[in-house]
Amino acid sequence: MKAIYPGTFDPVTHGHMEIIRRAALIFPKLIVAVAEDTTKKTLFSLNERADMLRNEVSCCPKVAKRVQVMHFAGLLVDFVAANGPAVVLRGLRAAADFEYEFQMAYMNNKIDSAVETLFMPANEASHFISSRFVKEMARLDGDVTQFVSENVAMKLRSKLLCQ
Ligand code: COA
Repeated sequence: MKAIYPGTFDPVTHGHMEIIRRAALIFPKLIVAVAEDTTKKTLFSLNERADMLRNEVSCCPKVAKRVQVMHFAGLLVDFVAANGPAVVLRGLRAAADFEYEFQMAYMNNKIDSAVETLFMPANEASHFISSRFVKEMARLDGDVTQFVSENVAMKLRSKLLCQ
């Protein structure tokens, strides 16, 4: 069965890519689904977030063969119904992620009982990465290249210069 890995990806970090690389080894097809409707006020537009992901994925041909980056508006469960059958994949970092992730998995399954969520533990190095902190560091001129690719770091710099 294929998997759908949804997120805001504002922007994609090494942590997200680590999950994508591992999931691409397990699932025959992985759809990375960039959400338009998220409670977060995003720095990058929907197309910019999806393009950055496509660029990251294309750097690894083995992964690129199995991964498709798409975007969606509206409910995740509707996207899954339209593009499934598929399981929803989410990465889990520290314990702090648990409550939010369990709640989201429960809600999605309540709306559509066919929607199952699988969790993949993030590797240790990704536990403390978050897009929000990456953006904050970039805003304050910090070096973010430990957390995101050169391309994403460059996009962050030019986006923040325009603000
Ligand atoms: N390594 C490092 N960081 C990671 C990570 C990993 N493996 N996995 C997640 N993160 C970070 C992200 O950088 C992000 O950080 P931020 O909060 O500072 O931005 C945070 O953890 C979670 O982000 P992400 O994985 O992108 O997910 P999200 O919580 O932003 O996405 C959606 C939520 C998009 C899946 C959800 O809002 C959704 O489904 N929206 C569609 C509408 C809908 O159906 N709503 C009902 C939901 S019940």
